[in-house]
Amino acid sequence: MIRERAYPVEPWHVRETRLDMDVLAQSESVFALSNGHVGLRGNLDEGEPHGLPGTYLNSFYELRPLPYAEAGFGFPESGQTIVNVTNGKLIRLLVDDEPLDVRYGEVLAHERVLDLRSGTLHRSLHWRSPAGREVRVNSTRLVSFRQRSVAAIRYEVAVADDKPLRLIVQSELVANETLPPQSRDPRVAAVLESPLEAEEELTTPGGGLLIHRTKVSGLRVAAAMEHEIESPARTTIDSEGYEDWVRTTVGCVLEPGQKLCVMKYLTYGWSSRRSLPALRDQVGAALAAARLDGWDGLVREQREYLDEFWDAADVEVDGDPEVQQAVRFGLFHVLQAGARAERRPISAKGLTGPGYDGHAFWDTEMFVLPVLTYTHPAAVRDALYWRHATLPKAHERARTLNLAGAAFPWRTIEGPESSGYWPAGTAGFHIAAGIADAVRRYVLVTGDRQLEREIGLTLLVETARLWRSLGHHDRAGQYHIDGVTGPDEYTAVKNDNVYTNLMAQRNLLAAADAAACYRDEAYHLGVTDEEAAAWRDAAVAMHIPYDDELDVHQQVEGFTRLQEWDFADTPQDKYPLLLHYPYFDLYRKQVIKQADLVLAMHWRGDAFTVEEKLRNFLYYERRTVRDSSLSACTQAVLAVEVGYPDLAHSYLREAALMDLHDLNENTRDGVHMAALAGAWIALVAGFGGLRDHDGVPSFEPRLSSRLNRLAFALQWCGMRLRVDVRSHQTTYALHHADPDAALELRHYGEPVRVTCAKPVTVPNPPPRANLPPVEQAPGREPLLRLPENPI
Ligand code: BGC
Repeated sequence: MIRERAYPVEPWHVRETRLDMDVLAQSESVFALSNGHVGLRGNLDEGEPHGLPGTYLNSFYELRPLPYAEAGFGFPESGQTIVNVTNGKLIRLLVDDEPLDVRYGEVLAHERVLDLRSGTLHRSLHWRSPAGREVRVNSTRLVSFRQRSVAAIRYEVAVADDKPLRLIVQSELVANETLPPQSRDPRVAAVLESPLEAEEELTTPGGGLLIHRTKVSGLRVAAAMEHEIESPARTTIDSEGYEDWVRTTVGCVLEPGQKLCVMKYLTYGWSSRRSLPALRDQVGAALAAARLDGWDGLVREQREYLDEFWDAADVEVDGDPEVQQAVRFGLFHVLQAGARAERRPISAKGLTGPGYDGHAFWDTEMFVLPVLTYTHPAAVRDALYWRHATLPKAHERARTLNLAGAAFPWRTIEGPESSGYWPAGTAGFHIAAGIADAVRRYVLVTGDRQLEREIGLTLLVETARLWRSLGHHDRAGQYHIDGVTGPDEYTAVKNDNVYTNLMAQRNLLAAADAAACYRDEAYHLGVTDEEAAAWRDAAVAMHIPYDDELDVHQQVEGFTRLQEWDFADTPQDKYPLLLHYPYFDLYRKQVIKQADLVLAMHWRGDAFTVEEKLRNFLYYERRTVRDSSLSACTQAVLAVEVGYPDLAHSYLREAALMDLHDLNENTRDGVHMAALAGAWIALVAGFGGLRDHDGVPSFEPRLSSRLNRLAFALQWCGMRLRVDVRSHQTTYALHHADPDAALELRHYGEPVRVTCAKPVTVPNPPPRANLPPVEQAPGREPLLRLPENPI
């Protein structure tokens, strides 16, 4: 785990002030740069030492067989795994006759700074070689938000002692890097040995390119680089290339205080269809475009892009500076994952590491997209088009499973199911309802009718069809969805998961409504009045299991009568339970990996009364172990709603600091995108109380004792709403080009009309009193409790 406060608390930067080899891999994830298309882990310029080298292109994968000891019908036979593509970050330095390597000589100073406003990673290093020569290296790296296939590095080295010094800079492209061996943790990626076959290498005096192809998936990747040099002295430059590497070497002798500056422009392209010459030209053209802007231009564009983003998305947290930093860090990574993904997936780790094989899960629609819908909806539009593009595979999967409509994969890169474990894989059918809800929310918040008509309706219809074929009416007419796994993966293949049923209910109704609204389009999809009526019937008759004796909802039918988990006999080092206990044991007991019924109370809060929410929260809180990083934010949201804002604050901290503190000890494989999105969710849906159940933005703001103020901005149908929460009151302000624009919202259930003319301030009602004490499962209290003393 990264020690508490590994990174000093600053509002807009994540700064590493010394190089700690023990957390190198984690910091590579934290400092990863990406635009959703290209992802560069925060590896040191010189490549070594490294925790995990990593360069990724969205959807560039290799296929690997999924072998089963005992196969079954419908088990996927091959899975997709993200490939570590050609590394273009490498810049090695020879200082006189010794390579710069921080494991040798002396590191006199080292600092890396991720600047969340400029979108750059800066490193400064003062190093003394074993022979006693000193250099200062300043390098800055960016992955451009404006130019999708472009990354660039400005590498500056200065003589830091008093004698002339010979410097050789070697800048490289390297394919098929050796990766560290795979661990037994199922959450890490499969290691592919030399997945790339060389197709072409080419050099120019100042750079070169490499083109490779994967062996089985047949995808082609091109990487190209060019350099510009600034040097006060005579400088040599030349390049050489081989199958798996191209190297440009720059040499010069500098006087004390002089600097050599190497600007490296790097571009990537990949395709399953384009010819080799076409791809070669593509990366060449991208290089020309990058050089046209030049380093300063790229830096300026990056800043402009981020200024716009922060203007619309920033969250201000007064009272917890760590959370302030973390929520911005989280939003930055969420943006990086989706900004230029452009009809490609947003995966669980973004492009920051190979964890989970680079797969996208329901995390995308249920955690990342709600945040982007309110802050950067263009990325949501693209992500929904991606899902839509995978429909043929989802149809095929549904046919294999003997179901109607579309069975979207539990985990995938490009569409096919890549999960080899049914109970915590395909059985998680709820992903379909998550996709439908993401469509609903996006259309509601943006008013984008074009998307609704073009693809939204189809997604709603095909998911509704799935629910209608997956469930059935019993003799009494009640509708059941049997044999599925809800969000809690420690309760698998069960009947009537409340979360699944409630989300499916909303999905069925949304599909029927959309079909009524777009009759021609629905007709072309073959929707009849009978079919839409059957969806409504199923929705109305949806069975929601309830335990009358305990007066709580049952997460799944029969859950509350299962044996209790023996927490007293579960040592702390046995978490996460999935790595220490057989699934068989987890499945038949009341132990919950992650919020499930509690998650239903967030996204379908309209289906529960206030008292039910409180009772359910208390019951499930005692049985939830949070072995998934997706859980804490949801517990925060409900903790605020039912009246425990200080507990919520602790959960907020856990979600927000998941990666900055490496709380789950697996940040090395990539950041936890859902938890980072969860920091925003905990703040805005938790302390801001935002809900959008019925087409109107509604708020129930409530601060923890630690917070003095929370302010955030949301987009709503082209308007920008600013919400400023203090402990006793909330101010709503509206901004729009049209001064007559107005927005109807709800504040604690009461309608409030906000116009551009003047902000509206309304009081927050007093907090609920006399609440019962809340307990967690023994030993599973929030990892980061609310500190007693403000920092
Ligand atoms: C969680 C899933 C999640 C996956 C990827 C698992 O540990 O249980 O809900 O989709 O991680 O983040």
